[in-house]
Amino acid sequence: MSYFEIAQQKFKQLSHQQDVTILAFESSCDETSVAIVKNGRTICSNIIASQIDIHARFGGVVPEVASRNHIMSIRALCEKALNEANLSFDNIDAIAVTFGAGLIGALMVGVNFAKALAYSLNKPLLAISHIHGHIAANYLTHQTLTPPFICAMVSGGHTAIIKVDDYTNYKLLGSTVDDAAGEAFDKVARVLGLGYPGGPKVDQVAKLGQPNIKFVNHSILDNSYDFSFSGIKTAVINYVNQKQQKNEELNLADICASFQQTVVDEIATKAIKACINYNLKKLVAAGGVSANSFLSEKLKTLCEQNDIELYMPKLSLCTDNAAMIASAAYYELKAGKSLASLSLGAKSRVAIE
Ligand code: KG4
Ligand code: ZN
Repeated sequence: MSYFEIAQQKFKQLSHQQDVTILAFESSCDETSVAIVKNGRTICSNIIASQIDIHARFGGVVPEVASRNHIMSIRALCEKALNEANLSFDNIDAIAVTFGAGLIGALMVGVNFAKALAYSLNKPLLAISHIHGHIAANYLTHQTLTPPFICAMVSGGHTAIIKVDDYTNYKLLGSTVDDAAGEAFDKVARVLGLGYPGGPKVDQVAKLGQPNIKFVNHSILDNSYDFSFSGIKTAVINYVNQKQQKNEELNLADICASFQQTVVDEIATKAIKACINYNLKKLVAAGGVSANSFLSEKLKTLCEQNDIELYMPKLSLCTDNAAMIASAAYYELKAGKSLASLSLGAKSRVAIE
């Protein structure tokens, strides 16, 4: 039997098996991560090697540098994940990997490593979307959370309102027409000289300021679930340039607070609107920007007012990690989906639905 025939057979068996342990790889951007998760909910290990310090001096992620660092660390991290979980390859039922969205060269490191491992161990390989992984971070955080729910997906690469009908069926209600929320945070931080990654820095500085600068007016997207953040990003850049030309002092805290409030209001309002319109009483936040303290406060307040239950990922699971990929893979496997062959490639963009 060929590798793929064996994988197909095992994959089928696993959909009925009581306990399933998945080893997952995530290398879509500047974190190399390897994790082992049991039954989609229990983290046995979740090793994350962040490259933030390496990229910070360039003011952002340098794709080629990211790929090289993934290559250098992935094998050792895999061993570490097994050691920490006190497991061997024999205990692993399936291998999962993020195949997109992300930086092609970076993704390829994880995809090729996972393919080689799946082939050499004769184990099924699952191709998982990074976006679905971010949503699944909530299954690891909230053991009783089940779909359906509305998800506010806010990361460095994506901003979307998604109706999650069940574990593997998603309906995209709206998304950004230009920059993602995290991208806007990072760009504004850069202009203000706050460094990389910008989101946490803006979050911190904003705490000391007042949201007293009006950067943009209401947008034409107000009646949809779509977002646009390039307008406010440009408005902040223009504001900073004008102030600097006039040699006027910049109040960084007020700029951050004003920018952050506008972005957060937009995300929170649309997420709540979706819950109300679709009569769903659960709102789930996902992605790096869900670590934003102002966003979580805003969502808490609005959810309380509208009698909606709010679920946020644990802070350590907001940003990129492989445990969330293993969790998403478990539900794909149980639904008989996402089995990949050895021709699996990396994709810079993937559809959410
Ligand atoms: O989900 P993630 O780790 O990577 C992508 O899939 O893109 O998200 C990273 C993004 C970055 O843009 C980072 O600036 C942003 O999440 N971020 C934050 C915060 N922490 C991380 N944005 C706003 N406030 C934060 N506290
Ligand atoms: Zn991410």
